[in-house]
Amino acid sequence: MAEFQEKYTVLRQEQLADDIFRLSLDAPKIAAAAQPGQFVMVRTGESLDPLLRRPFSIHKVIGETVALLYKVVGKGTRVLTSLGPGDSVDVVGPLGRGFDLDGPGPRCLVGGGMGIAPLYFLARQILQQDTGPNPPILLGARTRAELQVLADEFTELGFVVLTATDDGSLGHHGLVTELLDDILHRVRLVQVCGPVPMMRTVARQCDRARVPCQVSLETHMACGLGACLGCTCPAREGGYKHVCKDGPVLSADEVAWI
Ligand SMILES: Cc1cc2nc3c(=O)[nH]c(=O)nc-3n(C[C@H](O)[C@H](O)[C@H](O)COP(=O)(O)OP(=O)(O)OC[C@H]3O[C@@H](n4cnc5c(N)ncnc54)[C@H](O)[C@@H]3O)c2cc1C
Ligand code: FES
Repeated sequence: MAEFQEKYTVLRQEQLADDIFRLSLDAPKIAAAAQPGQFVMVRTGESLDPLLRRPFSIHKVIGETVALLYKVVGKGTRVLTSLGPGDSVDVVGPLGRGFDLDGPGPRCLVGGGMGIAPLYFLARQILQQDTGPNPPILLGARTRAELQVLADEFTELGFVVLTATDDGSLGHHGLVTELLDDILHRVRLVQVCGPVPMMRTVARQCDRARVPCQVSLETHMACGLGACLGCTCPAREGGYKHVCKDGPVLSADEVAWI
């Protein structure tokens, strides 16, 4: 798989909510090579602190523009917010294994929090495959402020979107996983990205319903290239998977959910 290390020009920095931003880059090589579910490693600033690149899912690919959706949680993501149009940013990617695009349909996408990021790229790809009517996309977040803009963008693509928020400010008041059971009988594949407890729950729901499930895992990553072994997750068959090389997308039944 082709991967590149280059400096790309920032086209846009959008603030979608208090601590959620979207960075659009003019990144033709990544745009041409990327598959939904893959990620990039971003050098967040020019100084040595933070030293390590940070991993981000490829959120959108439109023409030669690649967008990353990110939440400010620490130093690296805070530095990223200072980038504006015309600045350049050093990025390695696309990396890892993405979602199975040839898997059976209809498929249901489930996203929680920043796990929604890779699902937009995936949803656009599904539309191009013309697999017939799609079941609803399920999206969850803490509040309406975090979710509304993103949910609207999936709706604009033509999907029915069911939302859930922790505080009940948008859609179902509760967990997004509580929306899945009613839909599972209509789908042949579930593809999910979000916090580990949410993906563990979805994996169990799918297992009970005998519906295949793919999860996109987020672990701490130092290199993103398979060199440091810093991104392991326990495998059901024993041993470990390296999320950056074997994933980040894995079949849910490959993971030893703890
Ligand atoms: C494959 C992959 C794709 C990702 N995609 C996205 C994305 O699309 N959007 C997005 O906002 N974030 C994404 N992340 C998480 C993102 O990489 C981290 O939030 C980021 O590295 C934090 O950097 P920081 O310097 O701001 O925070 P740090 O100062 O490094 O950490 C701040 C806090 O966040 C915690 N943290 C950092 N990284 C992770 C992680 N990977 N998992 C759980 N907790 C973590 C730390 O333990 C610490 O408590 C992804 C991670 C992976 C592995
Ligand atoms: S992050 Fe270094 S091996 Fe995966």
